[in-house]
Amino acid sequence: MADRKTLVAGNWKMNGRRDDGLALARAIAERATAQHTCELLVCPPATLIVPVGEVLAGSDVALGGQDCHAAASGAFTGSISAEMLRDAGCSHVIVGHSERRHGLGESDADIQAKALAARRAGLVAIVCVGETRAEREARVAISVVAAQLAGSVPEGAAADTLVIAYEPVWAIGTGLTPTNADITEMHAAIRGHIPAGTRILYGGSVNPKNAAEILALPEVDGALVGGASLKAEDFWAIARAAG
Ligand code: PGA
Repeated sequence: MADRKTLVAGNWKMNGRRDDGLALARAIAERATAQHTCELLVCPPATLIVPVGEVLAGSDVALGGQDCHAAASGAFTGSISAEMLRDAGCSHVIVGHSERRHGLGESDADIQAKALAARRAGLVAIVCVGETRAEREARVAISVVAAQLAGSVPEGAAADTLVIAYEPVWAIGTGLTPTNADITEMHAAIRGHIPAGTRILYGGSVNPKNAAEILALPEVDGALVGGASLKAEDFWAIARAAG
């Protein structure tokens, strides 16, 4: 994993108004001046991308979007393109989060188109995959994730513009996590489907208590953090656990 730098990414989801969002960004930027060895990324809601970017300017904390549209521009009310995210200061974008796959019915093809849009705009795409509880219980988790990868990772993807986030749907926001053996098995399986050197993050109920153990797994190259990324001290504790 020497050549795969650990990435700790915070997904704020639909949380944060100017006051608390900017205070959180300031607290993260301040902490990031202390020594750390991982890459840090925050993905605020769209309304806060620009002001959070201003707060993070000069820190080494990167800025990302939580989703993008496949088209560069056009009559798509309410949507934001990858080019717009780039223009607003983003370097990354999350695509295919389970809250969009399962909550909003996005297909693998939709997600692949978004990942392609990210590449077109010069953004790193963080492509999320993960099985439901029923799929894990039916012992088809690995084949489900393999199919998601086959359908959502674009042809010609490369390790410097692609990150995979393995997020079991049943572990998101629930306080539940897979066993270390299950995470390792899944990450190793994923590695067989993606370009060499691509980082694979684990996501789903990562917190300051379990981060060190999860991040120490050789197949885990970082974490995508939801709830715990909304508290600067918790996010920073996870970043510290990464290195
Ligand atoms: P969680 O969310 O850390 O709150 O479980 C993770 C995610 O949805 O990316």
